[in-house]
Amino acid sequence: MATDNINKSHDNEEYEIDTLTNDRLIKDHNYDGIKELDNDLPPWWKWLFYLTIVFSIVYMIRLFVFQADDLIQEREYQLVIDKSAKENPNTKSTGTFEIVLLTDKSDIEAGKETWIKICAACHLVDGGGIVGPNMTDNYWIHGNSVEDLYKIVTNGVIEKGMIPYNTQLSEEARLQVVSYILTELVGSTPATPKAPEGNEY
Ligand code: HEC
Repeated sequence: MATDNINKSHDNEEYEIDTLTNDRLIKDHNYDGIKELDNDLPPWWKWLFYLTIVFSIVYMIRLFVFQADDLIQEREYQLVIDKSAKENPNTKSTGTFEIVLLTDKSDIEAGKETWIKICAACHLVDGGGIVGPNMTDNYWIHGNSVEDLYKIVTNGVIEKGMIPYNTQLSEEARLQVVSYILTELVGSTPATPKAPEGNEY
């Protein structure tokens, strides 16, 4: 039995057989009388090793040849973003969002809707102001640029009673209502205007 194995693996090396155990020993590996056994690796170990080689080849082909989406971090990220955008159509991804005054009629209309539904409770439908300040005059507490207004609608002024709308309204809806204020309410004449607050712009 033992001699059969010798020829199979290490053809060119020489062996001796341990007289007590019949184990195969490598002849010239002798360290202060301690000799080295020549055992075959167990089959499960070898198969595991072959499997890692197969895995690495498949992995390399998918990565370098097919450039699989799930292996390239940037694309994997984009996939997750796209999926989330599809599931939550109200919250647009920030990638292409720009804070500039919207002029489309449909945007102004949508802004007006939000205004009447949510904001009018404190600012009145005609923007004259009641709990919140007058939106029709040229006086602003926090500035009158699109960014200034957008920031207030997004972050609110909690200590004065205006809550942040970053979770209730999408970026687009916030920009629409801000555009509505700046194009329709500013300069109009409300029924009961609240006294000016802040600085004149
Ligand atoms: C619960 C009442 C309340 C609601 C609802 C509310 N606001 Fe206000 N808002 C306020 C108060 C109070 C202030 C004044 C904050 C301050 O004094 O700093 C304010 C301030 C503002 C300002 C800044 C004004 C300035 O002079 O700088 C803007 C813009 C504004 N609100 C827009 C909105 C919009 C748009 C909505 C609806 C999405 C809204 N608000 C809903 C109470 C409210």
